[in-house]
Amino acid sequence: MGFESELKQYIARVERGLDLHLPSRETRPARLHAAMRYSLEAGGKRLRPVLVLATAELFGRKDETALPAAVAVECIHTYSLIHDDLPCMDNDDLRRGRPTAHRAFDEPTALLAGDALLTHAFALLATAYAAQPPLAQALVAELADAAGSRRLIGGQMEDLLAEKKADATAGELEFIHLNKTAAMLEAALVMGGLVGGADAAAQATLRRAGRGLGLAFQIVDDVLDATADSATLGKTAGKDAKAGKTTYVKLYGLDASRQMAREQTDVALAALRSLPGDTRFLVALVDSLVGRAK
Ligand code: IPE
Ligand code: IPE
Ligand code: MG
Ligand code: MG
Ligand code: MG
Repeated sequence: MGFESELKQYIARVERGLDLHLPSRETRPARLHAAMRYSLEAGGKRLRPVLVLATAELFGRKDETALPAAVAVECIHTYSLIHDDLPCMDNDDLRRGRPTAHRAFDEPTALLAGDALLTHAFALLATAYAAQPPLAQALVAELADAAGSRRLIGGQMEDLLAEKKADATAGELEFIHLNKTAAMLEAALVMGGLVGGADAAAQATLRRAGRGLGLAFQIVDDVLDATADSATLGKTAGKDAKAGKTTYVKLYGLDASRQMAREQTDVALAALRSLPGDTRFLVALVDSLVGRAK
């Protein structure tokens, strides 16, 4: 099977998992559950949950054991996007090709839908892996760390603090990318590894891959913000410069940014290739992401 059809199959499994593991839109209060599903079901690349499934498979877990972990990761990611788009943060109208949650519903509903997705992620891990307490504990610890105040939320905080700051440094920018973006990509790989029973050395290698992938991914996101159009992105283009965001594009320019994304992708690929087993799908997936910024 080729890469594209394999990717489609993974995404289809993720979509089924989301439907299976989220409260129905009729669940009371229906407005809240409809808002949670509105943002989740809008699509998106499903990169993080696919990484969870593919990494679990690399370590021999070919059944659906990793699916709740994949869904939990996508719940956290989607909550972070709902909140990222709020008027008090990036103030965006478009996400995943649709009006943002606070536009389609209202601000309080969007805020609560994000809160509920965040909480649901951990409820899902605790219940779906209850029969394997050490695995449940490890997954909860990994996701909580990645989503917490030192990482995802910390990165978001510094991203806002660096806005309009004329003298933002390369070190500050690296902190932002490593945390607001790389943390969740690392967690996706490591959680897949945990479900598959990866040992400590393999987990460290997965973390290294996630770090490189995360840096590359956010650099590409910043390049696309400056070069692509809103229709292609499914979110508003050109907003970073307008908001005075500190990005790789602002600090280094487009060409150097593309070059750095390539270098970090190569770091990630080298780490993945050093793992045992058939890494072809993961390698092709990671390699495909940097090409978006051409
Ligand atoms: C957007 O992530 C936020 C960043 C970390 C750049 P994605 O580009 O993965 O968004 P979706 O999930 O495909 O919508
Ligand atoms: C990543 O940064 C956002 C997170 C949710 C962590 P951005 O603000 O650049 O993401 P987009 O461009 O709105 O997707
Ligand atoms: Mg942002
Ligand atoms: Mg944003
Ligand atoms: Mg962006």
